[in-house]
Amino acid sequence: MRIVSLAKGAFTLAIAGGAAFFVLTMPATLPKDAMAGVRPADAKGGETLFDAGGCASCHATPGQEDKRKLGGGLAMHTPFGTFKVPNISPDSKVGIGSWTEQQFADAMTKGVGRGGEHLYPSFPYTSYQRMSLADVRDLFAFIKTLQPVPTAAPPHELKFPFSIRRGLGLWKLLYLDGRPFTPDPKVSDEVNRGAYLVTGPGHCGECHTPRNPVGGPDTSRRLAGGPDPEGKGWVPNITPHADGLAKWSAKDIAYFLETGFNPDYDAAGGSMADVVLNTAKLSAEDRAAMAAYLKSVAAIAGKSPARKKAE
Ligand code: HEC
Ligand code: HEC
Repeated sequence: MRIVSLAKGAFTLAIAGGAAFFVLTMPATLPKDAMAGVRPADAKGGETLFDAGGCASCHATPGQEDKRKLGGGLAMHTPFGTFKVPNISPDSKVGIGSWTEQQFADAMTKGVGRGGEHLYPSFPYTSYQRMSLADVRDLFAFIKTLQPVPTAAPPHELKFPFSIRRGLGLWKLLYLDGRPFTPDPKVSDEVNRGAYLVTGPGHCGECHTPRNPVGGPDTSRRLAGGPDPEGKGWVPNITPHADGLAKWSAKDIAYFLETGFNPDYDAAGGSMADVVLNTAKLSAEDRAAMAAYLKSVAAIAGKSPARKKAE
C-alpha cells in the first residue's frame, strides 16, 4: 500500500514536474505589434550596428576575403560541444532572406529562432536584447542589402543534454531578463551612448565578464575578466581597477579600439584582434563614448594569473 502510494506520488510529481518544465521552458517572443510604432528603417545606420555587433566575426565564412558574405560555418568549440555558426545572408533558402522583421527581432532580443525554437546563447543575444527595436530594424535592413550566399552551414555537434533546445528555457529564465537598455539620467549623453554600445550591440561582457559553471555571466564581476571561454588564456579586466585599465586614459582605450595597439604599443591578440576589426569601422565619437563609459564603471579586482607572476 505504502509502496503504491509512494509510486503514485512519484508519478504525480513527475507529471507535475514535466508540466512545470513544459511551461517554464516555453519560448517567449515579442508581442505581435512590437515593431508597429518603430520609426522607418535606415539601412546605413544598420551598418554601424552590424560593425558594433561584430556579426561578421562569427557569421562570415572562415577564410573568405569578403567579411560581409555571411554564409556561416565557423566552428565554435565550447565545453558543451561545437557550434557551427549559421548562414544569415539574405539567401531565401539557407539564410534569413525569407524571415520577417519580427522573426529577426525575436532572434535578436528573445533568442528565439524562426521555427519558434530556443536559440543557443553562443549567439550573444543576452547582450543584443539591450538593443532598441529601431536599431534592430536598421540592422535587418542593412543585412538585406548584402549578397545572398546559397550554401547551408553544417549542423551543430553538441553533447547530450545540451543538444536539446527546450532545456535552454530554464537557462533563459535565469539569464535573459528581456530588458532593453535604459539611459542613466545622471551621466552624460556620451557615457550613455558608450554604455549602450558596450552592453548592447558591442557585447563586450560576453568575453570580459567571467562565467559561472552553467555558462551564465557572473554579474558581480562585470567586465573584470576571467578565463577565456574558448579554453585558452585569460580575458583581461577592463574595469578602471589597478588590475585592469586604471593606467589607460580614455584616449588610450579609444586608440586601442581603433588600431589594436595598447599604450605599450603591443598589438591586440586572440579574439580581441577580430573585435578591433569591427570597432575600427565605427565613428571616432562612438569609440570615444565606449572609452568614456569604461572609465566610468565600477572598478573590480581581477588579475590574470600571468600578470600576477610578472610582478
Ligand atoms: C560569438 C558569435 C556570434 C556573433 C558575434 C553573432 N552571432 Fe548570430 N549566431 C551565432 C550562433 C552560434 C548562432 C546559432 C544559434 C543556434 O543555433 O541556436 C547564431 C544565430 C543567429 C541567428 C538565427 C539564425 C537561424 O538560422 O536560426 C540570427 C538571425 C543571428 N545569429 C544574427 C546575428 C546578428 C545580426 C549578429 C550581429 C549583431 C550576430 N548574429 C552575431 C553566433 C554569433
Ligand atoms: C570575443 C571575445 C571578446 C570580445 C567580444 C571583446 N573582447 Fe576585449 N579582449 C578580449 C581578449 C581575449 C583580450 C586580450 C587580447 C590580448 O591578449 O592581446 C581583450 C583585450 C581588450 C582590451 C585591452 C586590455 C588590456 O589590458 O590589454 C580592451 C581595452 C578591450 N579588450 C576592450 C573591449 C571592448 C570595449 C569590447 C566591446 C566592444 C571588447 N573588448 C570585446 C576578448 C574580447
